[in-house]
Amino acid sequence: PNQVKTITCIGAGYVGGPTMAVIAKNCPHIRVNVVDINPERIAAWNDTDLEKLPIYEPGLKEVVAEARGRNLFFSTDVDQGIRDGQMIFISVNTPTKTYGTGKGMAADLKYVELCARQIAKVAQEDKIVVEKSTLPVRTAESIKRILQAEDTEHNFAILSNPEFLAEGTAIDDLQHADRMLIGGEEDENGQRAIEALVNVYANWIPRERLITTRVWSSELSKLTANAVLAQRVSSINAISALCERTGADVDEVAHAIGMDSRIGPKFLKASVGFGGSCFQKDILNLVYLCRHFNLPEVADYWEQVVKLNDYQKHRFAKNIVDSLFNTVSGKKITFLGWAFKKDTNDTRESAAIYVAKELLDDHAEIHVYDPKVTKEQIFKDLEYLLTQKGDCHSEGSEAMRNLLQRVTVHTSPYPAMDEAHAIAVLTEWDEFKTYDWKEIYNNMHKPAFIFDGRNILNAKELAEIGFSYKGIGKG
Ligand code: NAD
Ligand code: UDX
Repeated sequence: PNQVKTITCIGAGYVGGPTMAVIAKNCPHIRVNVVDINPERIAAWNDTDLEKLPIYEPGLKEVVAEARGRNLFFSTDVDQGIRDGQMIFISVNTPTKTYGTGKGMAADLKYVELCARQIAKVAQEDKIVVEKSTLPVRTAESIKRILQAEDTEHNFAILSNPEFLAEGTAIDDLQHADRMLIGGEEDENGQRAIEALVNVYANWIPRERLITTRVWSSELSKLTANAVLAQRVSSINAISALCERTGADVDEVAHAIGMDSRIGPKFLKASVGFGGSCFQKDILNLVYLCRHFNLPEVADYWEQVVKLNDYQKHRFAKNIVDSLFNTVSGKKITFLGWAFKKDTNDTRESAAIYVAKELLDDHAEIHVYDPKVTKEQIFKDLEYLLTQKGDCHSEGSEAMRNLLQRVTVHTSPYPAMDEAHAIAVLTEWDEFKTYDWKEIYNNMHKPAFIFDGRNILNAKELAEIGFSYKGIGKG
């Protein structure tokens, strides 16, 4: 049978780490190497203290404990990994370009290209190269050209195998995937490569959930899936604004429409705005592609999903300022949560960062408590945004220091809320629902405001305590 014995994954991030851990767990007969150029990340993956793994995902440490050292290995030796792997996954980051052509829209493929060149340079036999990173449609063609131009001796098959896991549920999503998508070329070489990858996943995913398509369809399906999911969130967030004006309740509306089996209940939770490393990046990438192919109407349609999300974040911050008598200058505003969603320590594109910036612009004193995000990360996020937006020219500048002086990060929740003028819920961590809200109320300035950006707290109970409670889309 067409079975690979060794797999190497380049990129030990949020996708590469968990994905390979789950492959290793389910395929003890395959040796899985995960390689990365970042030595700290690899050291953390190899740490004997499983609490120190570089990313937090429920269930991840158990899977790593089972497979690491048996058939799962983490290393910085990328060349050795490439030589060892019969099948090589590329799972490096593909952020939005921050320079030159396509700046602010297109995906930056420099890391992917570097991988392709390195594979070509080091390979000593035929390889199956799998695109795991999210890539613009037709990237496989470029990868193939690079490989063949740099190495004319060996045969390379390129597969597209986009990842649909969501953070916070990565292990469960991988273990019980709705579907696994594999795109490949139609010739015999391509079909054999598809079969080899199908045989890997078939170790735990039912065959009927393994979808095989042409390469371009697979690449485009990933961008489309994220665009459609984000569009649902922007749709319900748009309605939340209308609810606030009209007295309707967005959660009731979402429940009512979600019962229609054609619509379905998921991804209709109104919020302070979607975050995460994927949605915005992938939609902007799609918009860029549409413009590139001269489809301006299609580009504008999808771009609106991102614009509406920016509007939602801004609306949340503005509502805080408006409610606090038109100024938050010198007022203590406590953020519960900084991560872009619960059960992850990832903060990329989190709405919290943007809301914090707007409130800092209005001279607020921001206090933050998040159960999993470190102080260093929070300051890094703010520094990055402030330099991006041109508020400060460089990290460590005086302007930056002045701004960041007004940010305090706490490691426990109650002190974070002492003497606050307002509390803003930015992430839906379960523990926030269990707090002693009466005690918190007693220790706050009055009127005591809560802005629930996730609609997770009990509005009625809080109002009875005395809070001025404002949820999203609650008229
Ligand atoms: P990440 O930044 O967490 O990890 C990428 C890793 O690649 C980093 O550790 C980096 O050091 C490493 N790397 C970069 N260039 C390298 C090179 N030349 N050689 C070796 N290592 C290199 O990124 P991520 O969140 O894991 O995302 C990876 C890809 O998967 C992206 O294309 C993303 O769009 C896609 N994706 C992400 C998610 C998600 O939930 N995060 C879900 C689906 C798809
Ligand atoms: C997303 C896709 O779901 C996943 O398939 C893809 O592989 C990567 O991108 P992720 O970004 O990890 O996953 O999390 P997701 O659960 O999609 O949430 C994204 C953002 O939307 C979060 O900020 C979340 O809080 C927000 N969201 C989600 C809402 O505001 N309302 C919802 O109903 C759902």
